[in-house]
Amino acid sequence: MCGIVGYIGNEDVKETILSGLEKLEYRGYDSAGIAILNGNGLHIYKDKGRISHLREIVDFSINGTLGIGHTRWATHGKPNQINSHPHQSSTKRFTLVHNGIIENEEELIIEHLSDATFESDTDTEAIAQLIQKFSDEGNSTDRAIRYTLGLLEGSYALAIIDNENPEVIYAAKNKSPLLLGKGNGFNMIGSDAMAMIHHTNEFFELQDKEYAIITRQDIAIYNLQGRKIERETYFGELDATDIEKGTYPHYMIKEIDEQPFVIRRLIAAYQDEHGNLKVDSDILNQIRECDRIFIIACGTSYHAGMVGKFLFERITKKPTEIHISSEFVYNTPIISEKPLFVFISQSGETADSRAVLVKVKQMGYPTIAMTNVKGSTLYRETDYQLLLHAGPEIAVASTKAYTAQIAVLAIVACAASDSCNFNMLSELSIVANVMEALCDNRELYNELAKEFLTDKKSCFYIGRHVDYYTCLEAALKLKEISYIQTEGFAAGELKHGTIALIENCTPVIAIITQEQINLNTRSNIREVRARGAAVITMSLKRISSEKDQIVIDNVHEFLTPLVTAIPAQYLSYYAALQRGCDIDKPRNLAKSVTVE
Ligand code: F6R
Repeated sequence: MCGIVGYIGNEDVKETILSGLEKLEYRGYDSAGIAILNGNGLHIYKDKGRISHLREIVDFSINGTLGIGHTRWATHGKPNQINSHPHQSSTKRFTLVHNGIIENEEELIIEHLSDATFESDTDTEAIAQLIQKFSDEGNSTDRAIRYTLGLLEGSYALAIIDNENPEVIYAAKNKSPLLLGKGNGFNMIGSDAMAMIHHTNEFFELQDKEYAIITRQDIAIYNLQGRKIERETYFGELDATDIEKGTYPHYMIKEIDEQPFVIRRLIAAYQDEHGNLKVDSDILNQIRECDRIFIIACGTSYHAGMVGKFLFERITKKPTEIHISSEFVYNTPIISEKPLFVFISQSGETADSRAVLVKVKQMGYPTIAMTNVKGSTLYRETDYQLLLHAGPEIAVASTKAYTAQIAVLAIVACAASDSCNFNMLSELSIVANVMEALCDNRELYNELAKEFLTDKKSCFYIGRHVDYYTCLEAALKLKEISYIQTEGFAAGELKHGTIALIENCTPVIAIITQEQINLNTRSNIREVRARGAAVITMSLKRISSEKDQIVIDNVHEFLTPLVTAIPAQYLSYYAALQRGCDIDKPRNLAKSVTVE
């Protein structure tokens, strides 16, 4: 959500910033802007719409070696030209871009800015006005920024330019992500490494309530009291080719196809030299010693967590609860005496999950982050970490991170169990092979999407047992990228009301992987067929029936959610493709949801 790129160096800044913003497009945005400072002053271009539109309105004859850029996902005020960033103070001396939400904006305006006039509806403009005010009162820019930061409540990542000091970019952070990129003769700022990876792979981490003064030659980090902080750089693990689409038309299909490789990478990462499971012993002890596991997550990660509950209870025999982060934080259930909190988050930045983390840390409970992003907020702020090793996931709709989450949950559940009576790593290796065969069969899903989904307004996924969890995830995937209203439903529950919605030709996709519910789900299929539904059945080979359109090779009964996810992801992809949707950047959505 929102992206920031900044550059100060010797090269012209436009392409670096624009292409950096393009690398952040995956985070989700509805407007974009850039500010370039040169000897003739400051030049701002901004508007609602994509970076491709920003490229059209930027005057490419304007050159400059200092600039900041932004992609905005609207929170305060509509997505329009005026609300787009950068924003300026009323004298136009200070210009800034902001990611986050200032929670005490109204109080700040009443207390400090009652005479100021505002152009936009954003909370960001108040930050520029405050810096201006403190500067007008005779403070240095450095001090004016520090005074301002000291007053802000909420989240912010900021890049600030002072027109009167064209040799510096100021950066600051609290709760919203911001990295500082160290170059040779230049330095950069970015919401994440992807925005800078084509220029540098060496970074400084900026922590909450710190700010930085960035020149061409130097990056100096300070706390809000103005005390300098010594910090080492680190080298990122990201490779520039990891974030390219290559020959794929969309990141989503590239990421769907990558899943067999991700599973094999996980097998290698969680295996010791003797071929046994290898998981941090502190994590295993925490699991063994706790009296209850609380899984906390949102969206797709929440659906992976549902499978996680099943795996922890079946394999580890540990009572497990799964909670939606945004619910848990304000409607906290009774917590057991010795709980263990597991946060599942692809990005590691989700504000709803972080709010729970802050709360349970205050209560003194142990916490684990299961995330794809090393160094992300949840990774840094939890006691223990488990990495997903899925590689950067750029399409907004999560695919490979979802299956990686389930695989890591299965690995950890098995490693923590005294009685796991199967070899998890070799079962996962079978899963990887089955996934590969499913990927090779993608033309089938294309055809099924064309026949059953493309021109439909609504759809149902039905299943029982663990298949129900896949149905919830499959429904989310289909609705978020194709905009077909889809519900994931426990198959046995349909007859208690929802079956009223089944009409002639309503698509119903049934998933059946568990022997003990095979016949029950097939009865439910008959019930919807009798009411006119157009049914696609996806089953596992050992319980398949002749007419099932998607038959998946057998995998261990606990691991079926890993394979049923694949056809569902392709069905969503092809339905969205045939409907002409913006697959990698679905409307209204953001990849990393950094607001509550
Ligand atoms: C849907 C999707 C979202 C995320 C959710 C949580 O495809 O990606 O539902 O799963 O926003 O994000 P993370 O996992 O980054 O905490």
